[in-house]
Amino acid sequence: DKIENIKDEKLNEQIQTVKNSNNIISFEALRRKKPNKKVFNIKSKNTSYALMVADTGHLIHLYWGRKLESNKLDYIFKKYGKGSFLADTDNIDNFSIELNTVEYPTYGHTDLRSPAIEIKLANGTTLTDFRYENHSIFRGKKELRGLPATYMENDIDGETLEITLVDKLAELRIVLSYTVFEEYDAITRSCRVINNSNNNVEILRVLSANVDFNSNEFDLIQLSGAWARERHMVRTPLRSGNQLIESRRGASSHAQNPFIALASHDANEEYGDVYGLNLIYSGNFLANVEVDMYNNSRAQIGINPFDFSWLLEPNEEFQAPEAVLVYSSNGLTGMSHIFHDLYRKRLCRGVYRDKERPILINNWEATYFNFNGEKIKSIAKDAADLGIELFVLDDGWFGTRDNDDSSLGDWFVNEEKIQGTLNDLAKDINEMGLKFGLWFEPEMISPKSKLYEEHPDWCIHVPGRTRNQARKQLILDLSREEVCDAIIKMLKDVLKSAPISYVKWDMNRNMTEIGSSNLPRERQKEVAHRYMLGLYRIMETITSEFPEILFESCSGGGGRFDGGMLYYMPQTWASDDTDAIERLKIQYGTSLVYPTVTMGSHVSEVPNHQVGRITPLSTRAAVAMEGSFGYELDINKMTSEEKEEVKKQVEFYKEIRQICQFGDLYRLKNTFDGNDAAWMHLSKDKSKGVITYVKPYGEVNVLPKRLKLRGLEKEAIYKVVETNEVYGGDELMYVGLYIGELLGDYQSRVWTIEKI
Ligand code: DGJ
Repeated sequence: DKIENIKDEKLNEQIQTVKNSNNIISFEALRRKKPNKKVFNIKSKNTSYALMVADTGHLIHLYWGRKLESNKLDYIFKKYGKGSFLADTDNIDNFSIELNTVEYPTYGHTDLRSPAIEIKLANGTTLTDFRYENHSIFRGKKELRGLPATYMENDIDGETLEITLVDKLAELRIVLSYTVFEEYDAITRSCRVINNSNNNVEILRVLSANVDFNSNEFDLIQLSGAWARERHMVRTPLRSGNQLIESRRGASSHAQNPFIALASHDANEEYGDVYGLNLIYSGNFLANVEVDMYNNSRAQIGINPFDFSWLLEPNEEFQAPEAVLVYSSNGLTGMSHIFHDLYRKRLCRGVYRDKERPILINNWEATYFNFNGEKIKSIAKDAADLGIELFVLDDGWFGTRDNDDSSLGDWFVNEEKIQGTLNDLAKDINEMGLKFGLWFEPEMISPKSKLYEEHPDWCIHVPGRTRNQARKQLILDLSREEVCDAIIKMLKDVLKSAPISYVKWDMNRNMTEIGSSNLPRERQKEVAHRYMLGLYRIMETITSEFPEILFESCSGGGGRFDGGMLYYMPQTWASDDTDAIERLKIQYGTSLVYPTVTMGSHVSEVPNHQVGRITPLSTRAAVAMEGSFGYELDINKMTSEEKEEVKKQVEFYKEIRQICQFGDLYRLKNTFDGNDAAWMHLSKDKSKGVITYVKPYGEVNVLPKRLKLRGLEKEAIYKVVETNEVYGGDELMYVGLYIGELLGDYQSRVWTIEKI
């Protein structure tokens, strides 16, 4: 009790300090100064996001960028109207909302640009007109029911503004929520639709965020790719019209990531304005930027309206997912640091959120399906001798699965193959000094399985249509409650049967023939979203029932690397491509948004199984150490020299992993621009750093260059541990670290620095 009371007092004190501090007051200022117009200046440490209610009741976007102290920002709004062919809004002469920056636009009432929301009413029309009704401001943040979202540990993290807009004729309301994470410097948004009418309505489009800019002088940055080639950074200047990225694949996908950024043309890693929008969602999404006739840009992100609709009955609500908005005037690094800190501390959850992640060895690329208990133990034994901490048994331990054409859904241990019970195997591995982890693909069903024999209607399908298989599998219909319950039960049974410390949660195909036998015709377009809600419920149940387990999500590598997954599982297998050189681009792109600790990254054998490239073991390790580090090869086949090298790598990573996993990342060389890549992990107190340099291709007749570090204390003195040289922080940043000569392809160098 005493401890509790002391805690409470401390908390109150902290809350008071935050409230008193001028620096991070946000909505408080609004309440005190009471400006004439309803202007909301949402302030975080360095950023303002401002909007206002016009006298017509329209919600007008005013500003997003560097922090503005004043709350009297209504002058920014000018009722523009002189545009040929534009209708006058509310028939007010020379006022057309289409010429203004609108906070959450609808289509049709004189704004003819891309809307944020579209609802089909009982009379078949899709015209809605939402105007301000009221608002409330409170400290803290509400949960988004059934959806992953950022959270606050306690109310001192920030405040929430909720604005209710109403369409009086249709009797519909939308609640726009804005939460400011003051110290983290981020704003999160979402939208809830409420049907207060007596009729059913159909939501056709409900985006999570819309931001209008009265400029088009930006580059659009997106993360695009394919299986084994995920999240390459693509940067293009905005052009007139809509430029959109989306997923229609039933997952956030390998092809596009639910992230876009608008960057000033001159923005680079260190300087310039960058506005990032990221959706906390793992399903079909849309991210769009429309540059209109007047060179305004409208950025939007949310559930993909394509093939989506949602029937909302009287008194029902629909909650859209959360969008995270990050502005930085310090270029891409500034933006990434905000995303990384917020996601590490206020999106990821569970005991592993702040805990160093174990060095693992996974048997997939070592054995594929071809293993037995003896082989598994022999890999584990060698791994234990080299200091590796966790063994992960990948695909093939259940049902009759010796290749990928059967058994998904039959989560029963193949005791003949693993030569005993799972409990015995896990315990034997534990006795070697390793934790034990297990692979699952819970969302799938193989037509060749007992589960399919019993429940042929449990998969996503459309009656009468071919059930097209990918990797010989179909997807379970998670829009059905009983299917989700059955998965939960099967998973619990296995997880309780043995000392399992880690789970790899895989998902290996995209959705086709989307339909559910349980839903009526008017709800068929809800299936893809209902699937996500079902999946999130399963993940919430399992991760809270087994809080000590470290979960890593995976979808054929990085097919679902998104904030939705990270809310449940604090790491994701970044890509099925384990080649060190290919990984440079994948990890660079991923790190724009997602913290490196969330990126599963392994050393695999050579020639690499995906691209056939032969890279040195040292470079493979240097690159894998950018993320959560592990091995995925047959360690039994390694020579004693190689084993010795692995042992040293493991020892080294244990020394640096706190910095790599929880420090700040500085991308020093962009591998998309040239023949080198470099990055640095720097501890939060700037006292220790790990610097990695990789040169993909050997070059002839070139001079060795210097690598300029960033983020150091310029007055501090640092020792380069490997060379024993001593430099000022200013020298390391402005003169640079001497890289030296590197002979051959795929060479790398790693240095550690310590403040002395
Ligand atoms: C795809 C994953 O990305 C791989 O790492 C591996 O787990 C296989 N599935 C197993 O089928």
